Amino acid sequence: MTDARTEGDFAGKVALVTGGGSGIGRAIALDYAAKGGTVVVLGRRPEPLEETARLAEKLGAVADFVSCDVRDADAVTAAVDAAVERHGRLDALVNNAAGNFTVPGKDLSPNGWRAVIDIVLNGTFFCTRAAAQHMLAAGAGAILNVIATYAWHGHPGTVHSAAAKGGVLAMTRTLAVEWAASGVRVNCIAPGPTETEGAGAALWASEQDRRRVLGSVPANRFTSPEEVAESASFLLSERARYITGEVLTVDGGQWLGKQIYGDSRS
Ligand code: HXC
Repeated sequence: MTDARTEGDFAGKVALVTGGGSGIGRAIALDYAAKGGTVVVLGRRPEPLEETARLAEKLGAVADFVSCDVRDADAVTAAVDAAVERHGRLDALVNNAAGNFTVPGKDLSPNGWRAVIDIVLNGTFFCTRAAAQHMLAAGAGAILNVIATYAWHGHPGTVHSAAAKGGVLAMTRTLAVEWAASGVRVNCIAPGPTETEGAGAALWASEQDRRRVLGSVPANRFTSPEEVAESASFLLSERARYITGEVLTVDGGQWLGKQIYGDSRS
């Protein structure tokens, strides 16, 4: 969402958003575009990426897409370098690409474990490493990693994703300190239950599950990709210039709202 205060926040700037073909990634790319920035969306399937780029162009932005699997370090480096070559700079990287499904830990195959760790933990590092070469040379940049609150509280059925997101949180804090003096900020956003096709199918496939998840949110509603994108844009903007190594939780109070001794909510 753009208003008089945020309009033009990203004028002349360029962002790369992984997993930008759908859900939260698409919403972040479009919010960046609406605030005047150029966006490059990166993901595996070109069709949804092209659609995001088309929607960003409709907002008056320059937009581009690149088909690439974040698990392939060489392809990631080539994609990031090509984006900088085409658009002249890189101001922001959003590590949003993720893979997820719920499964009891004892039933998770080594391949299933590897698939999620590769996408979330390794993919985030590969993209961060490639983008940082340009940002550190320029002396400025903002990196934003999309995690989940179970990165710190854990959650049954998500051992692969929770371990990967926990790793991304540690990566964020580590690199934030390494790069603070060079003008490169690294932060996380932790969205709660968000109405997207990917999360819905992976995490609350049945109506019963959906009701149960909704019941866990003190705010009593899901969030939207657009609402998450507003917070993401804040962290990517100059308005957050003194914030690094932080996590902004956007979850309607979900992780704090465990009702163990009875419900005192009004
Ligand atoms: C058990 C499963 C499984 C499932 C896959 N596997 N799905 N095991 N239950 N539901 C196993 C497979 O059997 C295989 O192991 C291994 O995982 C790799 O599966 P592939 O399909 O070959 O891998 P790939 O095509 O690379 O797909 C990766 C993926 C997929 C992670 C499995 O789901 C994916 O790409 N998803 C991307 C989109 C997505 O999930 N987005 C949602 C993010 S939401 P074997 O041993 O059989 O070879 C999110 C929100 C979290 O992260 C926060 C909420 C609050």
